Amino acid sequence: MMEANMAGNEKKPTISDIARKSGVSIATVSRVLRGSDYPVKSEVRERVTEIARQMEYKPNIFSQMLRGSSSREIGIIAPSITNPFYAQLISAAEQECLKRGYIPFICSSMGEPQLEMNHLDMLEDRCVAGILLSSMGQGEGIVKRLNELRIPIMLFDQTLDSYEGDGILFDFYQGAYLSTEYLIQCGHRDIVFCSGPINRYSRRAMYEGYKQALKDYNLGISKKKLIGAISEPDTYGEGEYQLGKALGQMLLERDYLPDAIVTINDITAIGVINHLYSEGVQVPHDISIMGFDDISICEMVTPPLSTIHQPAFDTGKLAAKYLLDKIEGQITEPVHITTKPVLVERKSVRKIHRKVRR
Ligand code: RIB
Repeated sequence: MMEANMAGNEKKPTISDIARKSGVSIATVSRVLRGSDYPVKSEVRERVTEIARQMEYKPNIFSQMLRGSSSREIGIIAPSITNPFYAQLISAAEQECLKRGYIPFICSSMGEPQLEMNHLDMLEDRCVAGILLSSMGQGEGIVKRLNELRIPIMLFDQTLDSYEGDGILFDFYQGAYLSTEYLIQCGHRDIVFCSGPINRYSRRAMYEGYKQALKDYNLGISKKKLIGAISEPDTYGEGEYQLGKALGQMLLERDYLPDAIVTINDITAIGVINHLYSEGVQVPHDISIMGFDDISICEMVTPPLSTIHQPAFDTGKLAAKYLLDKIEGQITEPVHITTKPVLVERKSVRKIHRKVRR
């Protein structure tokens, strides 16, 4: 019988559920359900078939098509497909997959851990050859799930505490440090950190980097300087831009405006700028702001956005390349790559030229 999940909805059984219940490996369940002629004891074959029937397991039609041949499908799970940072990263991964004869299957978790789990179940059912994942998962549940999946996985963008698998990551701590340090060197003192909830590795690391830069330059750190850290407005697709507008409004509701803002990404920064502008506050004349990512839109907005470059294209390409190398057995050693941030100066930061003391 189908099991109910925490929301009370029926959760489709996966082959790992059947394996758990039958006390055999996922590979054995897969062989039995695919009707493979690989030798499996008849008693095991019968037990697995009966449990699959009881659990009302329905194999995905695509998995059936793949019967007898190994999958050429690669699942890609990202928190957003509308934020241009992820669009560029996914596009690079897609190109690499297609070049090597694999078919990308793109899923957006919309930043929701439960939707990400559902995508993992669905990709497992499709018997994909591998998964590229930017995980929004929290706690031990997601790490356990990844460890039990018998599918090669390559993380990108986010890492997970106590997960030791492969990943192409980014030095978010150093990126936010550089961003904050640049604002300080331009003469700003009252610098706030504008963010959605600090609920993922990248944001935690950025917040730490921001605080460390303030500390190193003897500037006060206070919770009051953390603006937002609230749930993203529920506007799928444009959520981070809307988040930026909400953060801009929060800044206006304070007693006074800070000198400068460090943000978690460019799209959020653009939302902040546009909201402030609509209320008569001009960047950088009245307040300075740093983005994060260096998406191409930074050059198209007024003022052009100063930011921290994060190599979206290279990340997507490398993540796909190493995942496929692993699937094809070309490499066996762990992949742990961390790319480095680069400061990009444009026009959203005013230079005040105060003396900087460290
Ligand atoms: O815009 C995407 C960026 O913001 C990524 O770096 C991601 O980690 C998020 O924090």
